[in-house]
Amino acid sequence: MSTDTSTEQNLKVAVILGSTRTGRFGPVVADWLLGHLDGRGDMTADLVDLAQTPLPTTFPSFGGELPPGDVELLTAVAPRLEAADAFVFVTPEYNHSFPAPLKNAIDWHNQQWHGKPVAFVSYGGLSGGLRAVEQLRVVMAELNAVTIRNTVSFHGAAQCFDADGKALDPAADAAKTMLDQLAWWALALRDARQTRPFAA
Ligand SMILES: Cc1cc2nc3c(=O)[nH]c(=O)nc-3n(C[C@H](O)[C@H](O)[C@H](O)COP(=O)(O)O)c2cc1C
Repeated sequence: MSTDTSTEQNLKVAVILGSTRTGRFGPVVADWLLGHLDGRGDMTADLVDLAQTPLPTTFPSFGGELPPGDVELLTAVAPRLEAADAFVFVTPEYNHSFPAPLKNAIDWHNQQWHGKPVAFVSYGGLSGGLRAVEQLRVVMAELNAVTIRNTVSFHGAAQCFDADGKALDPAADAAKTMLDQLAWWALALRDARQTRPFAA
């Protein structure tokens, strides 16, 4: 059976770039992924760069009001996550986990993740960010998201790309498989959410 989903309705994929560090390598990885998404016929990407759209870091009391400035920051991100059919987290590994700004972005939202698939592109030192991904799977399960089995990981990330941002190892095959799986889940779950509200 064909796995070509290009004739199906276009899928909105929010790519969340989790590194905000000054001098970060993350944009190289995110741009590489966006190139793959652009090359497909079935997905439209929205890059949510947490350095460009920072979120508040202090949560209100339960039931408490948010300061207007915080509302403004949240409004720049929440509707884009709400609109997404699927997500790809682009994450480095920091101390065997994922960066704090990414956890902050996850925690500020809730139903935006429900019943939707999440794929991972990770990078880092020797581990290639795999430990960050394993921790993200646990967190996203709590938020009723479905995580995609196949991932792309760049080990020793800076050595994996040339000066033009082209990946030097055969990561393209891994990206295609991961995005094909993401598309399958995104279509299945979008149909399911349209059939009946998610049972949160
Ligand atoms: C605070 C910090 C902790 C890190 N911890 C790890 C680690 O546990 N394992 C690893 O493989 N690389 C680790 N690294 C290396 C980063 O994964 C690597 O430098 C990556 O390119 C950082 O992403 P960024 O440049 O987009 O911030 C760490 C880097 C930083 C800044």
